[in-house]
Amino acid sequence: MPRTAIPRHQLELTVQDYGRMLAAALRPGSRDHHVAAFERRFAAMVQCRHAIAAPSARLGLDLLLRRLDLPAGGEVIVAAFNYFVVIERLLAHGLRPVFADIRRDDLNVDAAALEGLVTPDTCAILATHMFGHPCRMGAIGDLAARRKLTLIEDCAHATGTTYRGRPVGGFGKAAIFSFSVMKLVTTFGGGMVTTNDDALAAGLREDLRQLPARAGLVEATRRFLKGAVMDAGTRTLPFTLGAWPALRLARRLRPNLQRDIMTQQPQRIRGWTPWGAAPLCGFQAALGRAQLERVAALADGRRQVAAWLDAALADCPGVQVLRPAEGAGGNALYYGVLADRAEELAEHLFHRGIDAETAEYCNCADLDIYREYARPCPLARDVQERIIRLPNNPGMTRGQVERVAAAIRAFYEPAGAPSAAAVLSHKTRSKAGGEPRASARADSPSDQRRIAQRDLAPTPISTRNV
Ligand SMILES: Cc1ncc(COP(=O)(O)O)c(C=O)c1O
Repeated sequence: MPRTAIPRHQLELTVQDYGRMLAAALRPGSRDHHVAAFERRFAAMVQCRHAIAAPSARLGLDLLLRRLDLPAGGEVIVAAFNYFVVIERLLAHGLRPVFADIRRDDLNVDAAALEGLVTPDTCAILATHMFGHPCRMGAIGDLAARRKLTLIEDCAHATGTTYRGRPVGGFGKAAIFSFSVMKLVTTFGGGMVTTNDDALAAGLREDLRQLPARAGLVEATRRFLKGAVMDAGTRTLPFTLGAWPALRLARRLRPNLQRDIMTQQPQRIRGWTPWGAAPLCGFQAALGRAQLERVAALADGRRQVAAWLDAALADCPGVQVLRPAEGAGGNALYYGVLADRAEELAEHLFHRGIDAETAEYCNCADLDIYREYARPCPLARDVQERIIRLPNNPGMTRGQVERVAAAIRAFYEPAGAPSAAAVLSHKTRSKAGGEPRASARADSPSDQRRIAQRDLAPTPISTRNV
């Protein structure tokens, strides 16, 4: 039985963040000041003229789709491997999703394949920077400009990322960002729209003023508690003693909870709109602004853990690590690999106190509810079957990374697997000193035997958990 459980995601809030939230909450009437300061800082980061705070990214998309005046029945090219909520917003505005297949290396649309999807009815491209890996925005931007298509970026995962040195969120007509609790910068729920279009920005602000709801004390407290509980509950000790046992119980009662949410929820939320949500509270904006001041460090921490995981899993049989596009400066928000028998692997990790998930995103082109728009997207289908998201919290120690990698190796190589520490230290040495890699690597006679065997039989050697 492992000593501690390792959560998939941790918030990185400090005592100072809580202090700033409290200070904002205790100064009545300061809400507009905090929101405006957050927006200014965000606009500066994205290098856009306007950043407009919204209650969520999905509502930001709603506002945009209302204002962009896209033709009814117009086609919007969108990644098939996606979050269904986004597809629902397109449909709610009378637009038709055209699912584009994705790449296996970074989970993003294949820019080269988009051109073939453009028809006389195409009006827009919605480019999603999945898992914090920026899309190839050069090629996508060129296509949009050439074919006169409105380009929108879904940067829900991509705060603080760049493509070829340019911040994402400023490549198209507009972009949406999310600050929900599982994002790099969180405001305990919230979002941002960025654009360089003055008239569009003014229209969005006008619409935001019309939102029916206002966050009173009860709603503000609810938002705060949701975020604070998530923050406390994903810290190692409370997670191990509280959230993890609860998750174990939930999993026993409903083993496919996440998958059910992703496949059945679209049906259930038909007709739902995000319009009832109240604008961001002052304390939320103060929290967002505090994190923006250290956004580079937030991404650096995740990138470091991701690099350790990449090194430890690079030649693990059954596992394919992702490779971001050249020029993509990602934030490593989520760390995914493609794994054979991903669901069995997730189960194996679960029993070792490692929180991994296989069903957070899905191939929307295969969802029953979108059968009218179904297109063969074989790579998105393959990714859906093999993707597994592993923990990559910036707070993870190297020892914890080794534990995750060792557990994965033990799944695919039950007997005689080398310690992940040995693999990791070897990889680090290889990187620095250019030592031999892959099958030439053997730190001990038993490693040499194992590698020789594996080279003869490169497929996974057992399906049994250990
Ligand atoms: C790719 C993607 N787009 C959009 C959203 C919507 O963000 P929000 O929850 O802020 O509405 C999410 C949420 O996680 C997402 O993953």
